[in-house]
Amino acid sequence: MNSDSQRQGPSTLCVHAGTYLDKATGGACSPIFNSTAYAFPNPANQNVYPRYFNTPNQQVIGRKLAALERGEAAVVFGSGMAAISTLLLAHLKPGDHAIFQSDLYGGTTQFINRELLRHGVQISWGTSVAEFEATLRPETRLIYVESPSNPLLHCLDLEAVAALGKSRGVMTVIDNTFATPINQNPLELGIDVVIHSATKYLNGHSDLNAGVVVGREVIIQRVAASAINLGGMLDAHACSQLERGLKTLALRVQRHNENALTLARFLDSHPEVERVIYPGLPSHPDHAVASRQMRGFGGMLSFELRDPSRIEAVLSRLQVVTPALSLGGVESLICIPSRTSHRGMTPAERQQVGISDGLARISAGIEDAGDLVNDFDHALNR
Ligand SMILES: Cc1ncc(COP(=O)(O)O)c(C=O)c1O
Repeated sequence: MNSDSQRQGPSTLCVHAGTYLDKATGGACSPIFNSTAYAFPNPANQNVYPRYFNTPNQQVIGRKLAALERGEAAVVFGSGMAAISTLLLAHLKPGDHAIFQSDLYGGTTQFINRELLRHGVQISWGTSVAEFEATLRPETRLIYVESPSNPLLHCLDLEAVAALGKSRGVMTVIDNTFATPINQNPLELGIDVVIHSATKYLNGHSDLNAGVVVGREVIIQRVAASAINLGGMLDAHACSQLERGLKTLALRVQRHNENALTLARFLDSHPEVERVIYPGLPSHPDHAVASRQMRGFGGMLSFELRDPSRIEAVLSRLQVVTPALSLGGVESLICIPSRTSHRGMTPAERQQVGISDGLARISAGIEDAGDLVNDFDHALNR
């Protein structure tokens, strides 16, 4: 990041940061570099190859995300899970111990249980900073959190997580997918590494899979070294599409925040709704923490009906909001986590972290708020 971009605001960074200056034509957009074969030797004396994570279009995303997350460097992957698995495998070896937040995205939990354990990594789970501290061991190398979490929107005090890690020389990692760099910059709160599923808000149009890892240069070099062996790269066309999506991130997130808050208030006052989970509501247990460390409360909310058996009927009556997996796109989506994102967990595991079978999760899109409210009003009424 140069000193200019350090002073620029997030909307400006979304549009301009990292752009590859097209000296050949003066074009406004980064050109797409298609090649998988690059000259050797070259002036920088660096071997360039898409699976070495160092092609021009991959570097555009790296520079833009590093600027937006206020980090030194970033590396882009072919999916959020490629980013998560590579980061963890790059830093953990047999015998190491790592602490994970209990209510992570189901795919991350599945990776930990089905892959990381097979590699001889010792695992502990916790729901609070106090629980993380209680499970620390001399061989603990990493604390991994998600805030707000998926789908219960728990928000952890990130400065406290960072302070705990620093006091014991343990790396702290956050999946910042739900917040986006527009609402929350964990590196500024002392967290060491930020991960995103760029499939969600960063791209924002529900039409590609990608992931990123952001942090200090030395950490990103370690991640990139393992990434070359694990191979989860993103191709030039997808990088270009992701760059286009990122240009409108700040605008989109502002509308996602507004629509989610409007829907949360509406559902909260509806007689058919038992409870609404949204960090922007004063009733949310982590509202104070979220207000301190977030600039907006995000586009995700969850709710339970008084009569959980009605949830499928309600979903089937929606006309604007689409029942579908995934989140973070311009269109509003709704899903039932026990049957989608968290289906890989056993019913007992879901019950333990608080994901009931009737819990529904909304990803508020950027449509007109009144149309979203009317859609739920119609679907909920008997
Ligand atoms: C919070 C969170 N992190 C990571 C992922 C994984 O991302 P991807 O599907 O791009 O691999 C998801 C996917 O839903 C997610 O919701």
